[in-house]
Amino acid sequence: MEELLRIKNLKTYFPVKKGRLAKRFSVVRAVDGVDLTIYKGETLGLVGESGCGKSTLGKSILRLIEPTEGEIYFKEKSLLSLSDYELRAKRKEMQIVFQDPFSSLNPRMRVDSIIGEPLAIHSLAEGKVRERIVELLNSVGMGEDALKRFPHEFSGGQRQRIGLARALAVEPEFIVADEPISALDVSIQAQIINLMKDLQDKFNLTYLFIAHDLRVVEYISDRVAVMYLGKIVEIGESKKLYDSPRHPYTQALLSVIPVPELEAKKERIVLKGDIPSPISPPGGCAFHTRCPVAIERCLHEEPLLREIENGQKASCHLA
Ligand SMILES: Nc1ncnc2c1ncn2[C@@H]1O[C@H](COP(=O)(O)OP(=O)(O)O)[C@@H](O)[C@H]1O
Ligand SMILES: [Mg+2]
Repeated sequence: MEELLRIKNLKTYFPVKKGRLAKRFSVVRAVDGVDLTIYKGETLGLVGESGCGKSTLGKSILRLIEPTEGEIYFKEKSLLSLSDYELRAKRKEMQIVFQDPFSSLNPRMRVDSIIGEPLAIHSLAEGKVRERIVELLNSVGMGEDALKRFPHEFSGGQRQRIGLARALAVEPEFIVADEPISALDVSIQAQIINLMKDLQDKFNLTYLFIAHDLRVVEYISDRVAVMYLGKIVEIGESKKLYDSPRHPYTQALLSVIPVPELEAKKERIVLKGDIPSPISPPGGCAFHTRCPVAIERCLHEEPLLREIENGQKASCHLA
């Protein structure tokens, strides 16, 4: 498998004021030492509860947020050492699609301008911009009649199609899809997932597909990574990870997914308490405060993400 993206020890910290008037800052460790490889043509699902750092990781990879530390290589080239000018050119190869296309699509722009904007920025399809926009609309299952309409005239699913058409305009290789279906009705979710799969085959795309729910990424992901407090705690091939999750956090997330009546009843693992603050994550294993099986060692020794078997990795002393 060909590597498209390699991330080493990536950290993205946000300084936040301690009090409204205070001059002192504390630091939110939104992404806190992530190592990750993404292979060409795959879909890597990225899951974890809200606030665990998924969006910050996705945006840091594209340098929409500047990482604090670490390395990112896209096709062997270091992204963090690119100048602003070089980065702008690279953006053509990497796009992002957001959860709520209503807030990411300019409400005062018509669809032709929304999709035409990236074409203009990168001087693409010159002389046949309109044909190209129609072609892009067609590829997401929409027609010419959309051209002169505004985002509010469409349903959520259609808006996400427009968001995808805009992302595809520059013929990217890599797309970060940040909860692209979380805001949609369940009945529409499958349509968008299927569309994304078709687009992936047609245009040879690689996806980082972010969701807070493991169920959502099961069908589309080749591999899944589970994040907790800024770190990846488990990663592996989807089937293996769903069949035999090794990290107690993954096991808990999976245990709350409803299963059909006839399947063996899984015991629901209810996690204690809330996610600790990423400003002062617990020492040792950061999950120990909520872990149902934690032992003494977990309180003071941080487990490393290590291979368990067949490429499946988990960061747990007991895995
Ligand atoms: N610009 C920011 N300034 C300060 N804290 C932030 C900022 N963006 C995100 N955070 C914090 O970083 C953590 C991770 O956020 P985020 O990446 O949005 O998580 P997720 O996408 O998994 O819900 C959260 O605690 C969030 O409050
Ligand atoms: Mg998010």
